Amino acid sequence: MGRATKVVLAYSGGVDTSTCIPYLKEEWGVQEVITLAADLGQGDELEPIREKALKSGASISLVADATERFVKEYAFPSIQANALYENRYPLSTALARPLIAKLLVEAAAEYGADAVAHGCTGKGNDQVRFDVSIAALNPKLKVLAPAREWGMSREQSIAYGENFGIPAPVKKSSPYSIDRNLLGRSIEAGVLEDPNHEPPEDIYLMTQAIATAPDSPEYVEIGFTQGLPTSLNGIALSPVALITQLNELAGKHGIGRIDMVENRLVGIKSREIYEAPALLVLIQAHRELESLVLTADVSHYKRGIEETYSQLVYNGLWYSPLKAAVDAFIQQTQEKVSGTVRIKFFKGNSTIVGRSSDYSLYTPDLATYGAEDLFDHKAAEGFIYIWGLPTRVWSEKNRG
Ligand code: ARG
Repeated sequence: MGRATKVVLAYSGGVDTSTCIPYLKEEWGVQEVITLAADLGQGDELEPIREKALKSGASISLVADATERFVKEYAFPSIQANALYENRYPLSTALARPLIAKLLVEAAAEYGADAVAHGCTGKGNDQVRFDVSIAALNPKLKVLAPAREWGMSREQSIAYGENFGIPAPVKKSSPYSIDRNLLGRSIEAGVLEDPNHEPPEDIYLMTQAIATAPDSPEYVEIGFTQGLPTSLNGIALSPVALITQLNELAGKHGIGRIDMVENRLVGIKSREIYEAPALLVLIQAHRELESLVLTADVSHYKRGIEETYSQLVYNGLWYSPLKAAVDAFIQQTQEKVSGTVRIKFFKGNSTIVGRSSDYSLYTPDLATYGAEDLFDHKAAEGFIYIWGLPTRVWSEKNRG
């Protein structure tokens, strides 16, 4: 008896996921492997990947065009949450995992599979995100993770695949571990494992170096409707087109790089390089628009919710009850987050230069230092007396 009969495997076309196909069949007694490659705007050609799966022994090779779903259902809610893990990482990889998990679960139902599989190792966050998301969507489904158990090095994995007719990678494979989708790239390993080593320029693909970025600034206006980005420079755009164009615009000016040491859920600190131009700019702009339209208390309270949200997404709890509750809070706050934000891109900097909204709570008559001032200055005195009263009482008691 094998571990499962029919398995849907998340497939990227890379060495490890290809080796998973014969491994599942030969070592774990799986009778049929169906692969699923998700198009999340990573820019890979998918037809060769589809064919490679069949050559590697898959019975059916599925390609899911999921870019639009990815942006609308995963990236955009996360922008509304201003989600940045450890205040910096806009979760470009993390957001893809619950969607891939959903695609696997859907395909398993459609093809009557009794298990799904992924090629994650035991050291990363992605295995957690897959396993927990799959369990949340269908707790009866088995999850197989061959690369977590097989203990093969990359060379061994290539050699194992070659025994089953899987060609070794033609070009010398990159020294880095890279994950990519429409939202961004994550680059790890190689020389980057030394957190004191400056990242070599050639690891970047979506962002220009400051030295080669244009010598004059460029202004961009982003329009939001109920917290969702809907236009660029006055032109209404679909979610995917907006992200694509903004990646281009911001990346050209060297905006969107992150170099950080982050805390993985599995207890490891890792040095990560990210590029996520559009996502970072959209969060910056969205937060700015919120500063104009949210009341002070909602705005301050939301900061804590945003922190929780970012941790939930990072830690694989996209489909958890707490995430659903947090989503409801965030949605409630977005009703009036409509308007525009103007930003200047220049030499790696993205600087907000203006914001406007029909729902703006900014009141010139109250804010002005000029003659039109309508603020009641005398009212401040009584307010401050009562505001400071507990501190005054404490001081009288203790300082004598
Ligand atoms: N550390 C990032 C995260 O946990 C990026 C992970 C990249 N994943 C990968 N399979 N290379 O979201």
